Amino acid sequence: MTDNYRVVVLLSGSGTTLQAILDRQEQYCYQVVGVLSNRPDAHGLERASKAGVDTCSLDHKRFSSRESFDLELVKRIDEFKPDLVVLAGYMRILSRAFVKHYQGKLINIHPSLLPRHKGLNTYQSALDAGDKEHGTSVHYVTEELDSGSVVMQATLDITDVDTAKTLEQRVKVMEHHLYPKAIDWIASGRITIQNDAISLDKKPLGPQGYRISEKSIATAN
Ligand code: GRF
Repeated sequence: MTDNYRVVVLLSGSGTTLQAILDRQEQYCYQVVGVLSNRPDAHGLERASKAGVDTCSLDHKRFSSRESFDLELVKRIDEFKPDLVVLAGYMRILSRAFVKHYQGKLINIHPSLLPRHKGLNTYQSALDAGDKEHGTSVHYVTEELDSGSVVMQATLDITDVDTAKTLEQRVKVMEHHLYPKAIDWIASGRITIQNDAISLDKKPLGPQGYRISEKSIATAN
C-alpha cells in the first residue's frame, strides 16, 4: 500500500463526484491534495475548500487557445505533485500535449458502458437504442475521446419506466461508489496498466474491466 498517494481532481460543475471521492478518502488509501476547475463558479471548488483541500480556478476564457490554457493548467496541477489526475465532470476537451504529459496517470468516469455511447447525452442514447443495460465506466484517458482502457464498470438493468432522468440518478449513485473504489485500487497497486492492458491483482481483466452491478453496490452501501 502506498502512503499518501496524491490525487488531484479536475472538475467544471457541481462536484457530487468529488464529494464522494472526498468522503471516502479516510477509509481508502489516497488523499485529495488539490482541486482545479476551469470554471471559477464551479460548486465543486466550495466542496473542496470545505474539506480543507487547496483549490485553483483557471478560467479557460482568458486564454487564446486550448493549448495555452492546458499548458498553464499542467503547471498548476504539477505544483500539487500528483500521483494520479482524476477527471470528475471536467467539461473540456484536453489537448494532445496534456494527455501525453499525464499518460498512465489520468483517469475519467464516463456515464455509459464503453465503448457504447461515447460523448454527451448517454442516458437518452441508451433509451433510444433500446438497450437493456446501462451504466458507467472508469477509464484511462487517451487522445481519442472516451476511448482509453476501461478499469471498472458498474451496470444496471433498464426498466420500462426509466427515463433519462431516472437513469442519470441511478448511474450517479453507482458512480459515487465506483470511482473512489477505482482510485483506491489504483493507489494501492491492485489495479495496474501495462501496454494499455488492465490487471487486477496481477490477473488481466477483459476490455470491460472489473464489473459490478447496481444490486451489489446497494448491498455494499
Ligand atoms: C458524472 O456523472 C460523470 O459521469 C461525468 O460528469 C458527471 C459529473 O457530475 N463525467 P458532478 O459534477 O460530479 O455532479
